[in-house]
Amino acid sequence: MMNEHSKPALLGGLAAQTLPRPVWPLVTEADVEAVASVVRSGTWSWLGPQERAFCEEYARFLGTRYCLCLANGTVTLQCALQAVGVEPGHEVIVPGLTWVATAQAAMDIGAEVVFADVNAATLCLDPASFAAAITPRTKAVIPVHLYGCMCDMDAITEIARQHGIKVVEDVAHQHGSRWRGTAAGALGDAGSFSFQQSKVLTSGEGGAVSCNDPEVYRTIFALKQVGWAPADAEHAPYDQLVPGGRYGHNYRITEMQAALLRCGLRRLAAQTAQREATARVLAEALAGMGGPLQAVPRDPRVTTQAYYGMTLRFDPTGADGLSRGQYCQALQAEGIGLATPYAPVYRHPLLNLADRTSPVPYRQRQGQQDYATLRLPGVEQAAEQTGLVLMHQALLASPACTEQLLQGVRRTNDHLAALRQHFAAQAKPA
Ligand SMILES: Cc1ncc(COP(=O)(O)O)c(C=O)c1O
Repeated sequence: MMNEHSKPALLGGLAAQTLPRPVWPLVTEADVEAVASVVRSGTWSWLGPQERAFCEEYARFLGTRYCLCLANGTVTLQCALQAVGVEPGHEVIVPGLTWVATAQAAMDIGAEVVFADVNAATLCLDPASFAAAITPRTKAVIPVHLYGCMCDMDAITEIARQHGIKVVEDVAHQHGSRWRGTAAGALGDAGSFSFQQSKVLTSGEGGAVSCNDPEVYRTIFALKQVGWAPADAEHAPYDQLVPGGRYGHNYRITEMQAALLRCGLRRLAAQTAQREATARVLAEALAGMGGPLQAVPRDPRVTTQAYYGMTLRFDPTGADGLSRGQYCQALQAEGIGLATPYAPVYRHPLLNLADRTSPVPYRQRQGQQDYATLRLPGVEQAAEQTGLVLMHQALLASPACTEQLLQGVRRTNDHLAALRQHFAAQAKPA
């Protein structure tokens, strides 16, 4: 017999998740004091002491020689691509499943975006699809470490090396992930980070590029600093600015942002460890339950996994006829919010390439891919049927709160048939 404690909330039971859940961004007195002290100092921008200190600290954290702060995680990609040699007319390979900005960054600098497929489970670039998309015009690839899985960087960097292709990692989701001990952002020619409010390291808006090559550093510096670049990037990376010979813009951040980033960076490793521990508990419990919701297994080569979200997989064949949307509705009634992944970029409603303000090559494009008819099976399966994401703040929850989440999933899994009948009855005309 179902009672209100065992009955799914959607069928009239009590919601499983009642304890308060962590909110994001996390705000501490140290953040408030750090920003107030910058405001009092009167030095608010232009490579001040906070930005310099953050760049040094973040480069040390990543294990790269350089880090530069920029206005957001889109212009970081643009500048990184330009700095590794992408010019108008070159092709850049981008996974078909990512935030639209990854593709737009390449489009906005005049490159032709060629979409490749993703692994339907990890949601990350499929190396075989990347290899198949290469042409003589391919200049760069952007592996995106999406949500809670890293790309197979052994395979991707090897294919890129064989073809002389530059690798710009999009690390907007995974500040602090490590592949065989090396940080995401230090595995290719440059790494791009976003510090937008939802990200695990945030200053509201902002971004950074990591790199090792002084010439790449100098170019990015010029591109974000209206053309100014350090005369001697190796010995004086922030000073003795001279015209850098590049067509630059103002993509600077403020000192207030850098102060927030320094506070966030101090907490990041401990938060990542907590998220990893919670993800392990969830993955084991979901495997033990054996229902349609499972964690995507972690690649053993990932030595630290940072999570923008925990990547989950919904198996429609094990859901007793419930669709992903219906299953999520049942979980939502329990107080458990799961997100679906991004829509395929090549059909994203925000990617209005025919608009009069879109880049000229894209209004008159004759690219190798017709985005309107493009089909990438891994992207579409994940986006439309199987992909699910538990956002990172849930991984900072207390063990009791995590146990409630699992209770809600268990209760849903135990009543799939009753839930199916509920949805079927709802769908019947009155
Ligand atoms: C994968 C990915 N790349 C790039 C970006 C762009 O970052 P920003 O919003 O800081 O421009 C985002 C932002 O959400 C993202 O998720």
